Amino acid sequence: MAYENIRLEQDGAVATLFIDRPKALNALNSKTLQEMEAALGSIGTDVRVLIVTGGGEKAFVAGADIAEMAALSETQAQEFGALGHRVMAALEALPIPTIAAVNGFALGGGCELALACDLIYASEKAKLGLPEVGLGVIPGFGGTQRLTRAVGRARAKELIFTGERIDAVKAKELGLVLEVLAPEALLPHCREVAAKMLKNGPLAIAKAKRVIEQGADQDLRVANELERKTFGELFGSADQREGMKAFLEKRPASFTGK
Ligand code: HXC
Repeated sequence: MAYENIRLEQDGAVATLFIDRPKALNALNSKTLQEMEAALGSIGTDVRVLIVTGGGEKAFVAGADIAEMAALSETQAQEFGALGHRVMAALEALPIPTIAAVNGFALGGGCELALACDLIYASEKAKLGLPEVGLGVIPGFGGTQRLTRAVGRARAKELIFTGERIDAVKAKELGLVLEVLAPEALLPHCREVAAKMLKNGPLAIAKAKRVIEQGADQDLRVANELERKTFGELFGSADQREGMKAFLEKRPASFTGK
């Protein structure tokens, strides 16, 4: 499908979603968010890893579109926030790993987009931050919650109250970014990580993602119960039989995701 502000490309089992509005540093306006929602909904079962990155040289996503937001009424702002939350929730609900390749500015809604992905890798040029309070608002696509869960309350408050932009090395120190790569090595690295995941059972990865995500919102006993139940359920799957049989037969497994 042809989109105006994004591109969804597929190479084998790996899809890459480019937020591609470089003139506005890939800022998320309603149209872009709507296109992202449609693109995420269109991802087929043949896609097993999704990489999210920014088009152009400078930005991953420099935030929600300030020019559009400036004129919003309270009601319209509620709707805009809800649209952004739906996109982030759709990313989290995908039964496949999502990798943010942060190639430049990841500010405000852009940082929140990265936070909604399972893993974040960043280029040496990346700058991350939640500068919304400088605009008289707060993060509105899940940043107050996902950043806090990722780095703890005090760090999240420091970043949100100061609105400070941090570089990729600092973001790695905080545990927000997993690795810092040279700009040209960023996408190849993400594809290498994806290739490692492709060797493993897709159903098991989908379940692991769900248990991690759902468990993180529960107390430990409830979360462990979810793990116990899901672990057992996988013994009803073809992938479990194949994975263990392949090990015993000393050959690579051929998973079907069933
Ligand atoms: C709209 C944006 C934009 C944004 C950049 N642009 N960020 N347009 N919304 N978030 C546009 C600029 O207006 C400019 O357009 C062009 O992109 C290039 O940007 P420059 O500012 O000229 O580039 P540079 O000097 O290199 O500065 C880069 C920058 C700066 C540091 C990233 O653009 C910046 O501070 N942007 C805003 C970052 C921000 O505050 N993000 C949070 C937004 S609030 P023209 O037409 O002049 O060339 C948010 C809330 C989320 O995300 C939740 C909502 C519910």
